[in-house]
Amino acid sequence: MISIIAAIGKNNELGKDNNLIWHIKGDLVHFKELTMYKKIVMGASTYKSLPKKLAGREYIILSKSLKNIDDAEVYQDFDELLTYLNTLDEEIMVIGGASIYKLFLPYAEVLYLTEIEAEAEADVYFPEFDQSKYTKTLSEENVEDNIKYKFVTYVRLNNER
Ligand SMILES: NC(=O)c1ccc[n+]([C@@H]2O[C@H](COP(=O)([O-])OP(=O)(O)OC[C@H]3O[C@@H](n4cnc5c(N)ncnc54)[C@H](OP(=O)(O)O)[C@@H]3O)[C@@H](O)[C@H]2O)c1
Repeated sequence: MISIIAAIGKNNELGKDNNLIWHIKGDLVHFKELTMYKKIVMGASTYKSLPKKLAGREYIILSKSLKNIDDAEVYQDFDELLTYLNTLDEEIMVIGGASIYKLFLPYAEVLYLTEIEAEAEADVYFPEFDQSKYTKTLSEENVEDNIKYKFVTYVRLNNER
């Protein structure tokens, strides 16, 4: 099963200058809990943006340019990667960035979104999606450094593909 995890601003802001916009500790803990011991799928830019190796997670990188990365599987072709992921009987976490979310959105059963109640300048955005095709569950609302954020899970309705 393919799941997506992302933290987005009010206007679906995801990042700027190949970095995150907000660094919310509570969200990083949430990200760690949801991704630990799983395969995480990311684009080359997101891979390059990570400050350190995320321990306990298996990296799968989609890239035509990166080769022979230590401790990671690199796929050059999206269809090949999707075919491989569909053979797995486990939850795969797609962790971004924007181009990778766009590719995987039609195939993801679950979207774990941290919805941040703030706006910022951005150069990448989470893709628009039709909320009526998912059930939406709010699990937690928090405030950190005066920024409100909430953890929302969208699960695709059975017949909506
Ligand atoms: N807020 C969040 O939750 C969150 C999460 C993750 C990332 N981000 C942010 O998102 C931004 C990065 O997103 P992005 O869209 O610019 O980059 P990205 O999706 O992380 O990576 C883009 C790269 O992935 C590879 N790629 C994409 N589609 C491909 C395909 N069909 N086949 C083969 N390779 C493919 C290409 O690498 P090559 O050029 O090597 O071929 C492409 O340059 C950063 O600002 C990051 O901080 C935010």
